[in-house]
Amino acid sequence: MSLSCRSEAENDRLVITVHQDGVAVILVNNPPVNALSAGVPEGIAGAIETADADPSVRAIVLMGGGRTFIAGADIKQLEELAWGQGPGAPNLHELLLRIEDCAKPVVMAIHGAALGGGLELAMAGHYRIAVRDAQVGQPEVNLGIIPGAEGTQRLPRLAGIEKAIEMCVSGKPLKAAEALAAGILDSVVEGDLRTGALAFARRIAEGGGPHRKTRERAAQLKVQATLEEALAAGRELSLKTKKNLVAPLRAIQAIGAAGSMSFEHGYIRERQLFQECVASDQCRALIHAFFAERGVTKVPGIGKDTPVLPLTRVAIVGAGTMGGGIAMACANSGLTVLLKESRQEALDAGMAAIRRNYDASVKRGRFTEELVAERMARIRPQLDYAGFETAEVVIEAVFENMELKKHVFRELTALVDPDCVLASNTSTLNIDELASVTRRPENVVGLHFFTPANVMRLLEIVRGRAAAMETVSAALALAKRLSKVGVVVGNCPGFVGNRMMFPYMFETQFLVEEGATPEQVDGALTRFGMAMGMFEVDDLAGIDVACRVRQELGLFSEPSMRKPLIQDRLYEMGRLGQKTGKGWYSYGTDRKPVPDPEVLNLIRTVAREAGIEQREFSDEEIVERSLYGLINEGARILEEGYAFRAADIDVIYVNGYGFAAWRGGPMFYAGAVGLKKIYKRICEFQRELGERWKPAPLLRRLAEEGKSFRDYDAEHSA
Ligand code: 3HC
Ligand code: NAI
Repeated sequence: MSLSCRSEAENDRLVITVHQDGVAVILVNNPPVNALSAGVPEGIAGAIETADADPSVRAIVLMGGGRTFIAGADIKQLEELAWGQGPGAPNLHELLLRIEDCAKPVVMAIHGAALGGGLELAMAGHYRIAVRDAQVGQPEVNLGIIPGAEGTQRLPRLAGIEKAIEMCVSGKPLKAAEALAAGILDSVVEGDLRTGALAFARRIAEGGGPHRKTRERAAQLKVQATLEEALAAGRELSLKTKKNLVAPLRAIQAIGAAGSMSFEHGYIRERQLFQECVASDQCRALIHAFFAERGVTKVPGIGKDTPVLPLTRVAIVGAGTMGGGIAMACANSGLTVLLKESRQEALDAGMAAIRRNYDASVKRGRFTEELVAERMARIRPQLDYAGFETAEVVIEAVFENMELKKHVFRELTALVDPDCVLASNTSTLNIDELASVTRRPENVVGLHFFTPANVMRLLEIVRGRAAAMETVSAALALAKRLSKVGVVVGNCPGFVGNRMMFPYMFETQFLVEEGATPEQVDGALTRFGMAMGMFEVDDLAGIDVACRVRQELGLFSEPSMRKPLIQDRLYEMGRLGQKTGKGWYSYGTDRKPVPDPEVLNLIRTVAREAGIEQREFSDEEIVERSLYGLINEGARILEEGYAFRAADIDVIYVNGYGFAAWRGGPMFYAGAVGLKKIYKRICEFQRELGERWKPAPLLRRLAEEGKSFRDYDAEHSA
C-alpha cells in the first residue's frame, strides 16, 4: 500500500461511495486526472472493504469522477522516487489482491483514459467495461519505467504475451474497440457509462459467482511459437522503435516472467525491474520532459482568467512549404482555412502539394479518402483577401523578406477584425519591426512553425515588445488546438531554437575542418541520442537556407570571428542538400545519406589552404564540442530572459530539434553531466579555440554554486 500522509477524512473525499439499487458505486475524485496519489489507493481499499462487508451491496462499480478514469500513479510521487526523495515506491499489491478476492463482482467502468496504474487497477477488477472513446494503455516506458503494479503480469493474462509486449514497448494506448478485441475489456457501452455499468453489474450479480480473478487466468499466456521467440521479437521491436531506451527491454523481461513463473514470483520480478528503472537517469530525464511539456503553458502574466478568443477560422498568406503545412495542421484540427497566394500558379502548386501530402497519408493507411476530402474542403484557396475580416488569426508565411512582410502586414491591418491576432511565421526577422507597421502592434505575435508544419509538434510563440497577454494567450490556445507544444519565447535573432542551433552547427563544421568527417560527427551525435546528425539536418533543411539565414542574422560580421569555410563552397557548387541530391552527403532515390569523396576532398583542400591543423577526434570530444556550445548559448538566452525557464528550452530541443527525450533536453542533460564539468570544459575550449567559447555568466555562477538549471528553474518559479 502506498504510504499516505493524508487523514481518513481526506481519503474519504478522494474516494466517494454512493449506493444505487444494491450496487456500490465507488467514485475516484482526485482532479484533474484521478492519479493514484497518496490517499487514493487507501480510499479505494476502504471503500471496497466496506462494500464487501455490506449485505445490501450485491455488486461494486468503480469509476473515475470528472473527465477520466485513472491516469496512473502520481508522476510527482514517481519523480520524488527517481530523485531518491519521498516515501518510496507506491505498492498496490495488497489493494489489487483485495479487489480480486472480493466476494462481490467488481466492475471497472472506464471513460477518458485508464493508463498505467489506472489500467493495472482496472485489470484487478473482475470485469471491465468502457465507453467507445475511452482509451487504455501502459505508457510507463514514456517515463523510463515499466508497469509497477503488476501490469506486466495481468495484461498478458488478459491479452496474451505478444499484445502485452506490443503495448508495454510502444506505450501507445488502445481505443476501447481494440481493447475489447484484445480481451482487455469485456464490453463497450453505448450511451451513459454509469447507467450501462449499473445494468452490467446487476446482470453479473444475478448470474452469481465465482468471479474470474485475472491473476488466475492462464489460458492467454500461451504464445504462438515459443515464449523465447515472442520475447526476442519484442526485443527487436524495442531496438527498432525505442532505440537507446532501457525500460521497454525491462518490460519485456517482466512479461517474460509472467510467461515462465507463477504470478507470485512474476510480480516480485516485475517489482525488482521497476525499482531498477525508476532509479535510472533515463527515468529522471523522461519525467522531466513530461512535466516540462506541461509547464510551458504556464506563462507569467497569463492567468486562467485571461480571455481567449474562440477559434474557428484561420487565414494564411502564402501557400508555399510553410503556408501549405500550416493550412493542413489547421484543417486537421477542424478549423476553416483561407489560403491566399499572390499568383495563380503558386496557389495551384500549393494546393497540389497539400493534395499530394494527404494522398501519401491515405496510401500509408493513416487517413481515409473521406477524411481527406473533408479536410481539403476546409481549405479555401484564393488570390485575394476575401473573408479575412472574419478570421480570428491570420498567419503570414510569404518569402523571408522584411519589406515584403511589412507590405503584407500593412494590407492586413487595414482589413482584419480589431481583435484578430496577426502572426508571422518568420524564422529570422524582428517581430517588433513588423508589428510597428500595423495599427495594433499589441495583436502581433510570431508563430514559428517547424517544417513539415503539419507534423512537427513544436511551435515557438514569439512575444514581441508590444504583444498583449491576450495575444500570447490566443497563440497558446491555437497551439493546443493544433495539438502542438507552444513555447513562448522572446524576440531575439533566431529566437531560441535557431539561436542555439547556430553555434552548434558551426562547431560541427569546424570539427570537419580540423580532421573529422561529416559521417563521423553525425555518427557521434546520433549515438549520443540526436535523431539526426547536424550535417544530415543541414542537407534536409537546405544549405541555401542556412547560408541565407546566416547572412540575414549578420552572423560573423565581426572580422575576428572564425568563419566556417565549407558551407558557402557547397552552396556555390549547387550542392544545396537533399533537394539537389547532393549536399554534405550524396543522396540516391532512398534519400539515405552517402559519404561523398568529392566533399571530403573539398574539406581537406580548403582546410590545407587555410592552414588548419588536422587531427583525430573521439566521439566524446565531438559531443562536447557540438553540444556544450548549445548549452552555453541556452544559458545566455535564459539569463537574458528570452526563455522563461531552462525546461522551456528543453521542450524546444526535444520537440523541434530531435534532442533525445531520454536525455531530457540540453539544459537537463547539462545538469546530469554536472555544470562544473561543463563550465571547466568550456573554459578550456575558450583558451584553445577562442572567444566564441566565452562561458555564459549564468553557467559560471550556477557551476560555482554547485547548482543545475533545474535548481535555477525551481528557484525562479518559487
Ligand atoms: N500524475 C500526476 N499528474 C498528472 C498525471 C499523473 N499520472 N497525469 C497528468 N497529470 C497532470 C499534468 O501534469 C497536468 O498538470 P497541470 O495542469 O498542473 O499542468 C494535468 O494533470 C493535466 O494533464 P494534461 O495537460 O496532460 O491533460 P490532457 O487532458 O491533455 O491529458 C492524460 C490527460 C492523457 C491523462 C495525460 O495527462 C497523460 O498522458 N498523463 C500521464 C499518464 C501516464 O503516463 N500514466 C502512467 C503513470 S506511471 C504509472 O502509472 C506507474 C504504475 O505502473 C505504477
Ligand atoms: P516558400 O518560398 O515555399 O513560400 C512562400 C510563398 O509565399 C510563395 O508561394 C509565394 O508565392 C508566396 N507569396 C509571396 N508574396 C505573397 C503575397 N503578397 N501574398 C500571398 N502569397 C505570397 O517559403 P517557405 O519556406 O514556406 O517560407 C515562408 C516563411 O516561413 C518564411 O518567412 C520562412 O522564413 C519561414 N519559415 C520557413 C521554414 C522552412 O523550413 N521552410 C521554417 C520556419 C519558418
